[in-house]
Amino acid sequence: MSGTSGPSAFEERTRRCQRRLGEVGADAAVLFPSTNLFYASGFREEPGERHLLLFVPREGSPAFVAPEMYDEQIRDASWVEDIRLWADGEDPTELVAELADEMDLRGGHLLVDDTMWALFTQDLRETLPEATFGLASEVFEDLRMRKDETELDALRRAGALADRVSVEIRELGEEAVGMTETELAEEIEGLLAEAGGEEVAFGTIAGSGPNGAKPHHRHGDREIRRGDPVVLDFGAYLDGYPGDQTRTVVFAGDPPEGYQQVHETVREAQQAAVEAVEPGVPAEQIDRAAREVIEDAGYGDEFVHRTGHGVGLDVHESPYIVEGNQTELEPGMVFSVEPGVYLEGEFGVRIEDLVVVTDEGCERLNDSPRTWESL
Ligand code: CO
Repeated sequence: MSGTSGPSAFEERTRRCQRRLGEVGADAAVLFPSTNLFYASGFREEPGERHLLLFVPREGSPAFVAPEMYDEQIRDASWVEDIRLWADGEDPTELVAELADEMDLRGGHLLVDDTMWALFTQDLRETLPEATFGLASEVFEDLRMRKDETELDALRRAGALADRVSVEIRELGEEAVGMTETELAEEIEGLLAEAGGEEVAFGTIAGSGPNGAKPHHRHGDREIRRGDPVVLDFGAYLDGYPGDQTRTVVFAGDPPEGYQQVHETVREAQQAAVEAVEPGVPAEQIDRAAREVIEDAGYGDEFVHRTGHGVGLDVHESPYIVEGNQTELEPGMVFSVEPGVYLEGEFGVRIEDLVVVTDEGCERLNDSPRTWESL
């Protein structure tokens, strides 16, 4: 991550984080293996039982407290040079106490990673009994909502990848009839991997017929029949950023009664919501734009979830596109627009694209056909 052309994107993000710490009156952020830790340091790891913490003080240089076995890995991935290592069998809280003294944090206000295990927050409390604690989202939520160019580039490519697989899967047509939802989901995941996806961004959804009416049904052993509407919601990570796209397709045969009208309604609602996106508009306004179309068509009670969610290093993050969220949209924010109508026992329809707010309006990150017919 070190280069000759000035600070890396990760280092710049850490500097912004430090400014925000000052603005909210906190003395440091203490991160744990998480998307926040990756965002600031460039180092990515799964949470584990060993103490692996990144201290980002309001001023000065950040420092890791890490197991010795991670020394080389952190050095390779991160711009952060100060790494305090402890070996299995040693007490890592001694390093934490030492660092707290150097950074003058003993009586400070520390923002801990929201997903830090209680094991470690408890430990911090015991090691630093005079400190007070808050959540790191207080600084990171705001920073991470506005994507930088590196992030937008990855999100665009993850969107294009989902689009490509969406087209390929719809070309199955008649071939999909008789496949189980699970077989179809495996096909989708295979194509995502072939196209260069790192891993699936969330459990792939292939909800056929009545299963499509359960918004978070994943997939099961139900066989796809002629005329079944199938909700296909999937994406894969590219450079750590996810794709998330939904189309509702009938692979072969005639759809059930009422389906075409519901599909048309959802498509119009999605279009209306996308057209409502521009800087300065509160997030809830996008939800209202979609909901109004669906309510006018008489399906208001069947649209049982918010219109969308922010997307970044986490597939679900701020801003949430939901009634009551008055966050004003700003250029660089990325979120899903995914209205749906769910008719219990019959079928569901959902159409989802990711969009990025631009100076004028928005750019869609997905552009595969939104029609329901097989391709
Ligand atoms: Co989504």
